[in-house]
Amino acid sequence: MNRIYLDNAATTPLDADVISEMVNVMSTYYGNPSAIHAQGREVRTLVEKARKTVAGLLNATPAEIFFTSGGTEADNTAIRCGIAAYNIKHAITSSIEHHAVEHTLKKMLEQGVIDKLSFVNVDEKGTIDYAHLEELLKNNERSFVSLMHANNELGTLSDMERIGDLCEQYDAIYHSDTVQTMGHYVHDVRKLKAHFIVCAAHKLHGPKGVGFIFVNHNIKIGPMIYGGAQERNMRGGTENVYGIVGLAKAMEIAYRDMAEHQGYIQQLKDYLKDRLQNEIPDVFFNGETEADKSLYTVLNVSFPAMDMADMLLFNLDINGISASGGSACSSGSNIGSHVLTGINADPNRPSVRFSFSKYNTKEELDIVVEKVKQIVSQNVPA
Ligand SMILES: Cc1ncc(COP(=O)(O)O)c(C=O)c1O
Repeated sequence: MNRIYLDNAATTPLDADVISEMVNVMSTYYGNPSAIHAQGREVRTLVEKARKTVAGLLNATPAEIFFTSGGTEADNTAIRCGIAAYNIKHAITSSIEHHAVEHTLKKMLEQGVIDKLSFVNVDEKGTIDYAHLEELLKNNERSFVSLMHANNELGTLSDMERIGDLCEQYDAIYHSDTVQTMGHYVHDVRKLKAHFIVCAAHKLHGPKGVGFIFVNHNIKIGPMIYGGAQERNMRGGTENVYGIVGLAKAMEIAYRDMAEHQGYIQQLKDYLKDRLQNEIPDVFFNGETEADKSLYTVLNVSFPAMDMADMLLFNLDINGISASGGSACSSGSNIGSHVLTGINADPNRPSVRFSFSKYNTKEELDIVVEKVKQIVSQNVPA
């Protein structure tokens, strides 16, 4: 059975061109990029070429790009090292950030590295209350702001320009978790006012276990991982060379084909949304769904309360459909989605996040709709 993969916000399949580029490096170039002999130097050239490619796409300089092991490490570096370098005591985030951000900031509060952690209000679609953000910035000492660009469960986008302007006005340091949008939208770091943005290559048809952090040249931070002098003393450890080369290739392809893919995937998302809404009673969507306010790769569907709600994803799975989801945490419990809880979603309604890529087709979505209709009709009490 050919499975239908609709969990691209969790990770994406590798692009064939990325694989061949990586295989070439794996089979030919094994020198350590820190070695000074010819085999080391040629591998160093590959790493620096990848850095130049990534920097060029973001309108950054190569000196502003540091390779990491993925999104989590990049987020941790921005938050831990940004806060430490400027001795910041107050951080602002939201209750619907990825755990890479939320858990890091909560730990820093617990450890006394920061004195105060404020949560900006979000509405029922996961949109930031910008007036509240301004209030928090105005009424506190210099702040570190960490607000994601697109929410990985809901798809709701934040307005990076607006946050950047506010951060500039109040002299705050601004980190945006751009893991879900890197390679899906253009990020021009000379226009954005974010001090840190991040990438996980596996969200854009690149390899797992590699990513990068952009650090604006006006910001000076120290390393999070100590060791060798790699990444210009910013991250000890021998580089994941084929991962880095694969990441750069994936970014190149993503930027080359961005407009075409955005149009194609948006149309898939709209198609699934319309069919589910029209053909299943009492279905609605969590988060923003309007094209300019919502990540085009994510559709989070809220289904009516049903018997065996936790069987919904399992049923999809046994029918050959990979998606993710859950429901909001029920009162007093931590089990469930902190994001759905953060937007006050009804804990009795099961939600499924369908997330798309360039490899999905409308025919696949037709199969999904039929399966979903069947499962819902069998489980929703009459
Ligand atoms: C918004 C967001 N931030 C951070 C991460 C973590 O990335 P990684 O798993 O590459 O460390 C993810 C991945 O799920 C994500 O969706």
